[in-house]
Amino acid sequence: MSDQTTEQAPVGESNVPHPTDEAGIQHAVDAALAAIEAAGDLNELKEARLAHTGEKSALSLANRQIGKLDKSEKAVAGKLVGGARGRVNKALAARTVVLEEAEAARILIEETVDVTAAARRRRVGARHPLSVLQDRVADIFVGMGWEIAEGPEVESEWFNFDALNFKPDHPAREMQDTFFVEPADAHLVLRTHTSPVQVRSMLERDVPVYVLCPGRTFRTDELDATHTPVFHQFEGLAVDKGLTMADLRGTLEHFARQMFGAEAQIRLRPAYFPFTEPSAELDIWHPGAKGGPRWIEWGGCGMINPNVLRAAGIDPEEYSGFAFGMGIERTLMFRNDVPDMHDMIEGDIRFSQHFGMEI
Ligand code: PHE
Repeated sequence: MSDQTTEQAPVGESNVPHPTDEAGIQHAVDAALAAIEAAGDLNELKEARLAHTGEKSALSLANRQIGKLDKSEKAVAGKLVGGARGRVNKALAARTVVLEEAEAARILIEETVDVTAAARRRRVGARHPLSVLQDRVADIFVGMGWEIAEGPEVESEWFNFDALNFKPDHPAREMQDTFFVEPADAHLVLRTHTSPVQVRSMLERDVPVYVLCPGRTFRTDELDATHTPVFHQFEGLAVDKGLTMADLRGTLEHFARQMFGAEAQIRLRPAYFPFTEPSAELDIWHPGAKGGPRWIEWGGCGMINPNVLRAAGIDPEEYSGFAFGMGIERTLMFRNDVPDMHDMIEGDIRFSQHFGMEI
């Protein structure tokens, strides 16, 4: 018999004590107990258990030999090997309890949760800067007591053009390249601007009317850095007794300063729109423009054409009004220095996060 008794001893016939060999069995028990004691965690204990109580362990093999013994030896061997295995199993059970407790204590410490720690932010998305900007514009007008109005994106030609004083053969109809919706005799278009909401608002509400109409608009432009076929505008409309161009100017100036800072200024240049008379292009002096303060074309505006008031059932002798309209994408471009419109429509969350929740 070999005297190799460490727990790493290769297990084989040579290590197996005869089941009546008291010293040999004790040797196997000592080796098992040493291995059990040396196990530092439940994994190592499992290894020791397999090595010393598994099918090929010295004690199991010795146990199996008992069957082949003479009757006289059987009783002695059974008691000896049985007792030995019992001691090993007891040691295993005791060590299991100790190591399980140690493991539980370790987990308690290692996996301690600091319930007072600040929660880690889970980023699920970000509001799109166009939405944030649109809300900001709406807030400024709501702050002046205006209401928000909306209209349909698929609009009747009448609201989009006729009621706004575009004559059937008026060249202005071609100023805006329009998506017509089939069938042609339904006379529906994807609205080319938010101005049809002016007429809807005047028809739906009692005068005086002060509404801001933000919304999606469509033109047959190819997508490039500065054009997109789907874009957004906001339309302002005020109808009251005695409104003049001075009211329009004052309103736009206040709005511009809220958006671009106290040094912002506005400039009106004569222009033409069928639905306003007189009409003007609105420029903004943008103090924070990239490359230094400068004038930037921002939108259109004017006094509501009496024909439009009449189409909406309002007497132009009694009431007057002003309107203005700007693009939200364009505003975002020069306000926040976004040179390429692709960024606004691709939906890459990194673009939106760059603006945070508030732009
Ligand atoms: N609807 C015009 C456009 O889309 C802008 C505008 C609105 C002009 C209101 C005057 C008054 O270009």
